Amino acid sequence: MKALYRIKTSSFDIPCSVFDIHPILLNKEYICSMDLHLFDKQVYIDRRRILKQNIGADGLILLLGNEDSSMNYKDNCYPFRQDSSFLYYFGLDVPMLTAVIDTDTGEEVIFGNELSIDDIVWTGTLPTVNEMASLVSVTQTKAYNQVIHYVHKALISGRQVHILPPYRPENKIKLAEWFNTSLGDVAGYVSPKLIRAVIAQRVIKSPLEVAEMDKAVSISVDMQLAVIQNTRPGIKEYELVAKAHEVAMANNSRLGYPAIITTHGQTLHTHYYGNTLQEGRMLLCDIGAENAMHYGGDLTRTCPVGRNFTTRQKELYEVVLASMDHAISMLKPGVRYKDIHLQACLKLADGLKQVNLMKGDPAEAVEAGAHAMFFQCGLGHMLGMDTHDMEDLGEPYVGYTDVLKKETSIFGLKSLRLGRELEAGFVLTVEPGIYIIPELIDRWEAENKYADFINYDVLNTYRDFGGIRIEDNFLITDGGSQLLGKYLPKTLNEIEALKG
Ligand code: GLY
Ligand code: MN
Repeated sequence: MKALYRIKTSSFDIPCSVFDIHPILLNKEYICSMDLHLFDKQVYIDRRRILKQNIGADGLILLLGNEDSSMNYKDNCYPFRQDSSFLYYFGLDVPMLTAVIDTDTGEEVIFGNELSIDDIVWTGTLPTVNEMASLVSVTQTKAYNQVIHYVHKALISGRQVHILPPYRPENKIKLAEWFNTSLGDVAGYVSPKLIRAVIAQRVIKSPLEVAEMDKAVSISVDMQLAVIQNTRPGIKEYELVAKAHEVAMANNSRLGYPAIITTHGQTLHTHYYGNTLQEGRMLLCDIGAENAMHYGGDLTRTCPVGRNFTTRQKELYEVVLASMDHAISMLKPGVRYKDIHLQACLKLADGLKQVNLMKGDPAEAVEAGAHAMFFQCGLGHMLGMDTHDMEDLGEPYVGYTDVLKKETSIFGLKSLRLGRELEAGFVLTVEPGIYIIPELIDRWEAENKYADFINYDVLNTYRDFGGIRIEDNFLITDGGSQLLGKYLPKTLNEIEALKG
């Protein structure tokens, strides 16, 4: 009997029988219960070779995969999400694997346990750990409980063991055990050298990765269109969330982060979906697909609930769009994203002055930070396998440099996730907005804060306005930038036409 086992090598983008390329599995008689979506194995060989080069002969690199995480009882788990750095170097989208790279000997080992018959009965079968490892050209595999011996042996002989910052409690617990230390002290073992080396590779997207991201953004566009076209008075926000999930699932994808689909667009990351949409208000929709290779999109559009925007909505929409277009025109290698952010803020302040919400000199207003009444966050962030790409590795390393350090106290700038000089190969978001937050108005007005720049009387007539954000995703190219994915309407007329 022939076994059926699907491997998707993204560089070819065709499901192919493993027999064609992996005779090791020839005698198996099973139907695998998951697709393994992989780039060609050479991609992983090259990535690990470069990592080894960048670290030099300096002990072990320990890369932890994730395990299933229980939701409300042990056997009821959250959807599995592999660690992105593990995926980057080892590709295998399977729980409970960990890898070691010995930079002194070149040895590479994947640690994992074979399925028990109970696992197979309940969740189906998989190739063996060794068979999976061979798909990414790793020849050595060991049982999971052997990791601790590798780590101990290295530590006893005074060798470095480089780890990335753990963000999952279960991985923190494992590391505490393997390093024979307390949970609180695990952070002390994190290796800035490894963090820097991983970021240096992952931050520059290869053509294969860009192709994956392009696909993910195009699926995100279709999700947006489904939401916007179904937005109408009387519908519940959660019904629109369902539309986004439907399109994602129909494309063998899922949402890369919880949908922000809200008529209260002033709340930057609200996940409440219980409101009924009302004529005259707007809907802010911030959603992104994560495709089967775990690359994602992150798009935002703001549309009227009814057919048309109101005059006030149109005015502020144009201000946000002008700020966005200005920011996009500045995208190119060598420009600091912090400067693009500040230029986008200046455009916002300019426009807000035109509609009498701000006053005084816009440049002085931005210098003082007064624009943060309307735009409290950053202009954008890196995008990749993670929506805020590599944020687990630390913003100071991902979005900033030793020369340009992140502001940690200035309202507005402290939420700018990306400030550093752009390089060809970066993928990032541009997402300016205007958010009218009544609590912030009350707080600052009571303090008479920025009274030279903010027209509080006018602003108080906008208290129930909500928020507007427009967001697209860009690849930085040698000459400038390239929009990822298919075009998603973004002008006022284009958005209204979608409601037609
Ligand atoms: N789309 C969510 C965010 O950028 O934070
Ligand atoms: Mn975003």
